[in-house]
Amino acid sequence: MEDIYILGIESSCDDTSAAVLKNGVLLSNVTASQAVHEAYGGVVPELASRAHQQNIVPVVDQAIKRAGIEKEQLTAIAFTRGPGLMGSLLVGVNFAKGLSQSLGIPLIDVNHLHGHVLAHFIHESEDDHTEPPFPFLCLLVSGGNSQIVRVNAYNDMQILGQTIDDAAGEAIDKCSKVMGLGYPGGPIIDRLARQGNPDAYQFAKPNISGYDYSFSGLKTSFLYSLRDWIKDDPDFIEHHKEDLAASLEKTIVDILMKKLRLAVKDTGIKHVAVAGGVSANNGLRNAFHDHARRYGWTVYIPKFSYTTDNAAMIGITGYFKYQDKDFCPIDAPAFARMEK
Ligand code: KG4
Repeated sequence: MEDIYILGIESSCDDTSAAVLKNGVLLSNVTASQAVHEAYGGVVPELASRAHQQNIVPVVDQAIKRAGIEKEQLTAIAFTRGPGLMGSLLVGVNFAKGLSQSLGIPLIDVNHLHGHVLAHFIHESEDDHTEPPFPFLCLLVSGGNSQIVRVNAYNDMQILGQTIDDAAGEAIDKCSKVMGLGYPGGPIIDRLARQGNPDAYQFAKPNISGYDYSFSGLKTSFLYSLRDWIKDDPDFIEHHKEDLAASLEKTIVDILMKKLRLAVKDTGIKHVAVAGGVSANNGLRNAFHDHARRYGWTVYIPKFSYTTDNAAMIGITGYFKYQDKDFCPIDAPAFARMEK
C-alpha cells in the first residue's frame, strides 16, 4: 500500500505550527510561538496575523525538512479552518489552499476543537498505542473553551456541557492579570500554586444545573476579595501570591472535576481524557490521577507539547478524515466561530 503523508497546518490564534505524519505516525511538529503579545497582556489579533504571515513559510519548510521528505511526496494537506481569530486563520487557510493547488493534492479542513480532542491519537512511533477507546469523555479546557465532550468516534463528538460565559483558561489569565503577573497567566499560576496552600482562601463557585460551566462569578469574587485584602495590606498580593495562586487553581479544578464526575456517573463512561491548553496544569493533572485512583477511571493525559495549539493534532485529525475521503473544496471559507 502506498504511504500516506499528511501535512497539518495550525494558525488559529498565536502559534504558527506545521506537522508531517506518515501513515498516522508523527514525523515532525514545528511551532513558532509569538512573544510579541506578552507586552499587551493578551493576544493582539492584528499582530498575530502579521507574525503568522512571517512564520508560515519557514515553519512549513522546517516541518517538511525535519520529516525527511520532499513536498512532492505529500498526499494531502490538513488545515485548521476554525474556530479562531479570522486574521490568523486566513494565513494558514490560504497557504494550505495555495500549496494544495500547486501540488495537485486534496485539502482537508479541520475543526480546531476536534483537533484538541484527537491529540490523544498522536503517535510518535508505530508501537505507541496509548489511546482512549470509543466512547470516551473528554474535558476540553483552553483559553477559549471549556467543554465536556462525549467522543463516540473520530468524526462523532457530542458536546454534553460547556461554559456559559468565560472559559477556564480565560478566567485564570484574567485573575493573573489582576494580580499583576505576566501573560499568559496559566503557566505562571501553575508555577506559583506548587508552592502555596490551596486551602488558604475560598472563592465563589457557580451553582448551575447540568454539565455546563460558568467562571465569570469566580473572576468577580477573586477581584473583590483582593480589593478588600489590599485595603488592609497594600502589598497583600506580593506577600500571598503563592497561596492566592494555589487557592484559585484549586477552585477552578474543583469546578471542572465536579461536572466531569457527574457526566461520568450519568453516562457510565469511565475512560476520561483531558485536552487543550489548561490540560498542561499540574493541579488538574493531579486531580485526574486522583480520580483514577478513587473512582476507577482510566485517564488519558496528553504530553505537554500536545496540550497547547499544535499542528500534530490537526495532522492526525486530517489523517482520519483522509481515510474517509472527507475532503474540502477550495472555496471553503475560514470560520471564526463554531459553525460546523
Ligand atoms: O489551547 P490553548 O493553547 O489555546 C486556545 O485557547 O485555543 O490554551 C491556552 C490557555 C491559556 O488560557 C493559558 O493560560 C492556559 O491555556 N494554560 C494553562 C497552563 N498552560 C497554558 N493554564 C493553567 N496551567 C497551565 N500550566
